[in-house]
Amino acid sequence: MPLKVVNVAIVGTGVVGSSFLEQILNVKSSYVKFNVVAILKNKSHLISKDYSSLPITAVNWASYIASNASEGSLTPAALIEFLKKDKTPAILVDNTSNAEWAYAYPEFVSNGVSIATPNKKAFSSDLNLWEKLFSGNPDHGLVYHEATVGAGLPVVNFLKEIIETGDEVEKIEGIFSGSLSYIFNTYSSDDIKFSEIVAKAKELGYTEPDPRDDLSGMDVARKVTILARIAGLKIESTSAFPINSFVPGKLSEIPTSEEFMKKLPEHDEEIKQLKEEAAQSGEVLRFVGSIDVKQNKVSVGIQRYSNSHPFASLKGSDNVVSIKTKRYQNPVIIQGAGAGADVTAAGVLSDVVKIAQRL
Ligand SMILES: NC(=O)c1ccc[n+]([C@@H]2O[C@H](COP(=O)([O-])OP(=O)(O)OC[C@H]3O[C@@H](n4cnc5c(N)ncnc54)[C@H](OP(=O)(O)O)[C@@H]3O)[C@@H](O)[C@H]2O)c1
Repeated sequence: MPLKVVNVAIVGTGVVGSSFLEQILNVKSSYVKFNVVAILKNKSHLISKDYSSLPITAVNWASYIASNASEGSLTPAALIEFLKKDKTPAILVDNTSNAEWAYAYPEFVSNGVSIATPNKKAFSSDLNLWEKLFSGNPDHGLVYHEATVGAGLPVVNFLKEIIETGDEVEKIEGIFSGSLSYIFNTYSSDDIKFSEIVAKAKELGYTEPDPRDDLSGMDVARKVTILARIAGLKIESTSAFPINSFVPGKLSEIPTSEEFMKKLPEHDEEIKQLKEEAAQSGEVLRFVGSIDVKQNKVSVGIQRYSNSHPFASLKGSDNVVSIKTKRYQNPVIIQGAGAGADVTAAGVLSDVVKIAQRL
């Protein structure tokens, strides 16, 4: 059987993009050949004018880009034009968190270009955009986004597949943030002040540069929006449900991250009380996202779980998702690393492989 050839355009060569490039350049498949025909960064780009694979390897790609890239990036419209001029099917791999690229997905898809991405923006903003992307038009490109929730963990595609087979999701609950998982797991098991564990998580690079971006729950809210939509709820946006931020009231107004970190110890006592109240009932604090499909209810915030619950025994920065469906009354538990370059890139690459199989 002749090799199936697929053109791949990659946007973003940061933490996930670098690992993705290494992984795709190492793929040795007996049925598909991935032609990496474009690599775009924020301020530079590289394209293969004759649509043959760029002459890069898993080892030399970074230095090749550094010496051969042209200045300036391409707009989404210019990339679509470039990909459309070749008859070979094409996949856009968006490894950024950029909104402009996310909002351009419908244009790619309606021009027959498929998409694989860990970028949550397109799937957690306007419901309209979601509906355009999953319209089911057979002439459109395919859209896969496994790594938008739980990095490489098999959550998104598993849910879509069981729903396609006729199952009905009743409830999804999970710890969807690696940084908040680390903070609350360590806080409940160690004798440490809350401000100290946040400082440690920041130092280890688990949090965003400003830890309030994690503690606010917005990243969890984006992931929960995606899962709720897959489960069938018409969530307009992340403002359609309560997000109970864990940033102590007054501290959300403070302008810089440094000042926030200085003031956080003033709230150690009140947070310790929450932990002790939970401990007295044999429970721990966890920052979770919940979707109750039957009740049409979504929420994000702190919950208490008994010490015997799977969420209580979570370690390090792992994610965990519990999915209860009509068929799985005893919920399916999916647990493991929910962040990190290699696992996230592997999640994106497995989507690229799935798309190639279907094209
Ligand atoms: N890191 C993780 O563990 C993880 C886990 C799950 C999901 N994700 C998601 O994966 C995506 C990438 O995360 P990351 O950690 O790899 O981010 P990152 O290290 O900040 O990399 C972002 C990349 O995107 C490029 N970029 C940004 N805006 C662009 C634009 N307008 N045009 C072209 N390129 C642009 C940047 O280019 P320059 O190199 O030129 O600056 C950079 O290479 C995000 O959506 C994130 O939420 C990450």
